[in-house]
Amino acid sequence: MKYDLKQFTLEEKLRLLTGKDSWRLYDANGKLPEVFLADGPHGVRKVVDGQTLVATAMPNISALTNSWDPSLAYLDGETIGDECIARDVDVLLALGVNIKRTPLCGRNFEYSSEDPFLAGAMAKAYIEGVQSKGVGTSLKHFALNNREYERLAQSSEVDDRTFHEIYLPAFETVLEAKPWTVMCSYNPVNGIWASENEKLLKGVLRDELGYNGLIVSDWNAVHHSGKAAKATLDLRMPSTWDDTAVNELKEGLNEGWLTEEEIDERVCKVLELVEKKVNADKTKKSVKTKEENHAAAVKIAQDSIVLLKNEDDILPLKGGRIAIGGQFAAKPPFGGGGSALVNSDYAPRNLAEELSERLGDGATVEFIRDYSDTVHQARIRHTSSLLSAAYEADTVVLCVGSNAQMDGEDFDRTTIRLSPVHEDIILNTAKYNKNVVVVIYGGGAVDMRAWIGQVKAVVFAGFLGEGGQEAVADVLSGKVNPSGKLSETFPLCLEDTPTGADTGNGFVERYAEGVLVGYRWYDTKGKDVLFPFGHGLSYADFEYSDLAIEKKSETDYEVSFTVKNVSAVDGKEISQVYVRDVMATVERPEKELKGFAKTTLKAGESKRVCIALNARSFAFWSPALEKWYVESGAFEIYVGASSRDIRLCGKIEIDLPKKDQYCKAFKA
Ligand code: BGC
Repeated sequence: MKYDLKQFTLEEKLRLLTGKDSWRLYDANGKLPEVFLADGPHGVRKVVDGQTLVATAMPNISALTNSWDPSLAYLDGETIGDECIARDVDVLLALGVNIKRTPLCGRNFEYSSEDPFLAGAMAKAYIEGVQSKGVGTSLKHFALNNREYERLAQSSEVDDRTFHEIYLPAFETVLEAKPWTVMCSYNPVNGIWASENEKLLKGVLRDELGYNGLIVSDWNAVHHSGKAAKATLDLRMPSTWDDTAVNELKEGLNEGWLTEEEIDERVCKVLELVEKKVNADKTKKSVKTKEENHAAAVKIAQDSIVLLKNEDDILPLKGGRIAIGGQFAAKPPFGGGGSALVNSDYAPRNLAEELSERLGDGATVEFIRDYSDTVHQARIRHTSSLLSAAYEADTVVLCVGSNAQMDGEDFDRTTIRLSPVHEDIILNTAKYNKNVVVVIYGGGAVDMRAWIGQVKAVVFAGFLGEGGQEAVADVLSGKVNPSGKLSETFPLCLEDTPTGADTGNGFVERYAEGVLVGYRWYDTKGKDVLFPFGHGLSYADFEYSDLAIEKKSETDYEVSFTVKNVSAVDGKEISQVYVRDVMATVERPEKELKGFAKTTLKAGESKRVCIALNARSFAFWSPALEKWYVESGAFEIYVGASSRDIRLCGKIEIDLPKKDQYCKAFKA
């Protein structure tokens, strides 16, 4: 290492374990260069003197994950990395990989999925993209910060198997990309604050998962610097602005439960981070203009849009008279609220202008200004102009959903229905027009039962960043064939979800549903859903055939199949591979995602898709053995267009040596 511990006094070493201010590391009396941290994850949010610098607002991670395309996650990371370099940001405080356990979680827009395999694959590519630019990242929030309600106080109480199978794997996958830092969460985990939970930080993150970088606290998540250092947390952020942190470390030293060697280990992690900044090869910055970064935002948004329903093939729009209304038709929300909100100065045109440009002479597109307001929940106002336009029009497009005031940090949603104002607008418009297309913005699942039967098409945009308006117009007009699929289940209603309306009691929340999170819950319990995990329509049709499962070893297989575009338009298809453990000695979900691929197919084209499965595809975490364990027996392999649209099915039989098997309940 370039820096030597001997260069620093004990006082300086203790001060190095806390930030200098809100965003910078302590410079040890000028001995170290400045290291600047900034949020993440949907664009860089650098705050200087209370002002947030302008940056490109990229699609939110929840939307990006609907693309199921790691190469787009990489592009997203690269684009943001470039903007970090331009703003002298050394570490981007991104990305969160907490699992979407309940659709109520206010920060779901910042998270990828209810499925750890998908979340891990997308987040890893994003982190690689940012770090390819010589900018560090912060993998967060470790761990079990799955709702915002009482996030500073409520303990997440989870059993070991659930933790390993659902909440840890995405972190584990992303660690392969070597994020410069990992950020601990606010909440206690099994009764102890994450920031001072030695079992969590040292036992799991460092010893079990092998992480050897810097652990930073979430902002103000440390309650005692000495205890945090003991748990191997390296950097408390932000500054305590006084001697509190240093005194707490001295308390540990004086009382003998914290040693100077332990302090030195933590200081080394800080110095290694400084060194990474110094050595970073920033020459990889692409000289991109603001317009080029905006184009990247549009490109990612195009592939992230999910066509949920398309009755009578009403989309793409065919022309004629089209009325455009709804609160977000003029300007869609770019993202959810809180530390992830990017200060973009991009001013989108209204959707009618975008559409009329794309549809040309065959269409008359009329923009109806709308005064409905999702936040104040006022009943419907000033919509007579929309209703009369709807009566005259051939088709109506309504842009509804939530914005940063409804999906945000530090609070949860209380319902997954649209606001009553937006539901009323849809229902009233549908009384005057049979061809209603609904475009939904927001951070996650929506209960649509009140109105879905009255509309022809539903497009889930999510939060698409500043390029959303163009991307939505591209999809509605058919310039782009939609290719996104849901990375979370849309249940029929909140009551059907594993946690329902429960929030925990403010002190503790038990993860009683265990491993049955998301589709694992609905499938295992046999519950109907509105739109299943992995669902998304296209203007093209795809056929699946010729499943082959090639055995490479007892636990390694190559699954291959043919996907054919049987339509007259080019498109992309996301194929999903699920594994079912037919009989097991622990309760296993009905099936689990273990592979996926997004394939571009021209009209009439077919391609062979190959997906590898390995021991982890079949294993469960055994708390008794404290390791991943594959039990011999039959496993079914499903290839699906969604979790509930299984097109091909095969079977394998795993037969492992007796010495590796501990319990066989089902073979004589
Ligand atoms: C959030 C983090 C964020 C940090 C700094 C916290 O409130 O939980 O995700 O990086 O603030 O803004």
